[in-house]
Amino acid sequence: MRIETFRYTERMGAVLLRDIQKIIELDSGLEMEEEGEARGVLKVSERTIYEMQRKMAIIIPTKNEKIRLFENCISGVPHECLKIIVSNSDVRPINRFELEKETLQQFCEFAKRRAIIVHQKNPIIARALQEAGYTDLLDDNGNIRDGKAEGMIIGILLTKFFGKEYLGFIDADNYFPGTVLEYARAYAAGLYMAKYAYCMVRILWRYKPKIHEQGLYFKRWGRVSEITNRCLNSLISFVSGFETDVIKTGNAGEHAMTLSLAESIPYASGYAIEPQELLSLFEEYGDIPYPIDEHQNNIKGIEILQIETRNPHLHENKGQEHINQMLLSSLGSIYHSEVCPEETKNLILEELQRQGLLKLGDEPPRPKLIRAPKDMNFDRFKEIVGEHIEEFIIQ
Ligand code: GDD
Ligand code: MG
Repeated sequence: MRIETFRYTERMGAVLLRDIQKIIELDSGLEMEEEGEARGVLKVSERTIYEMQRKMAIIIPTKNEKIRLFENCISGVPHECLKIIVSNSDVRPINRFELEKETLQQFCEFAKRRAIIVHQKNPIIARALQEAGYTDLLDDNGNIRDGKAEGMIIGILLTKFFGKEYLGFIDADNYFPGTVLEYARAYAAGLYMAKYAYCMVRILWRYKPKIHEQGLYFKRWGRVSEITNRCLNSLISFVSGFETDVIKTGNAGEHAMTLSLAESIPYASGYAIEPQELLSLFEEYGDIPYPIDEHQNNIKGIEILQIETRNPHLHENKGQEHINQMLLSSLGSIYHSEVCPEETKNLILEELQRQGLLKLGDEPPRPKLIRAPKDMNFDRFKEIVGEHIEEFIIQ
């Protein structure tokens, strides 16, 4: 893969925000070029991508998606990545989870690869979380709550269980398996080119096609993303005193991290998770002079890369109510962050009032926060899950 190198970096304390990097060539050959590369271009060889993907888990959160889309998605994940599916699909009246398992089983048989699948409501996982002291994902009855974030975090814990170093999230409601392949390649390239051990790669879709009367229209920005990005940029601008538009992936569902970073971030429940990841980093490291403490495993910075894909992204249309909820929870997480300045709070209130989602005098919802996974007793979690692990492995 050939990819643009970093051009522009914005800093929030120890958090380095890299501006968009475009993919130049999806496959750039097996080995490195002897004569070197053009200026501003980095080649990540096929061999490197392969080496990175061997150490990577791809986590697919899914809930009641069409089985054909689910199958599309798993078929696009590169062979070397460990597939971890965390499903919150219905088990009655139709057992959709069983259908997903069967589909995965068939895939694994033909692809000669094992994969992991767990149901979000699995009582063994819930008990392991309880005993590990990580009740943040549980409801009052001790069951794992609904929510995409909750599924993603179970995926992070399973990544650690299986000893992988990197993890990437990919939504299951994707119409084109080729985009899944591109995301996983961009994750590998981005994590490889990062300078620091604490790294995140966030994907910006090139286009999100919409059907208009005149035919297909290749829209650049999603409705929620555009507003979330504007508000996150406002936050950074007013904190630093310099206006910026560096954030272009505030809602990026498709993103990857080093496990070391994934374990260290406090998250937010449901769809607030993606903006909250950035906010949690700003809160914790935003005013730490760079570099951070040399004793913290020599971590010198937290690096956020934003990579723009070549493929357009086409996924399920889940309706206006869903979009409204996503906007409310995204902006709610920004509004309630301890680093959110008054100017950004006002921008959020104006935006939500203008859209008719908030009454005058009301505030957006406060997200339910989830402690960083590193705060749990992982050994205990591993012990309990380990006793039943065969139930989750498909081969
Ligand atoms: N395990 C699990 N549990 N998965 C879930 C749950 C849940 O409770 N709810 C939703 N999912 C899965 C969906 O099945 C899908 O695969 C993925 O999470 C994303 O959910 P969507 O409902 O399709 O969200 P979206 O397409 O509107 O938004 C996506 O893109 C946004 C950026 O544009 C999400 O990834 C957002 O988080 C992201 O901000
Ligand atoms: Mg979707």
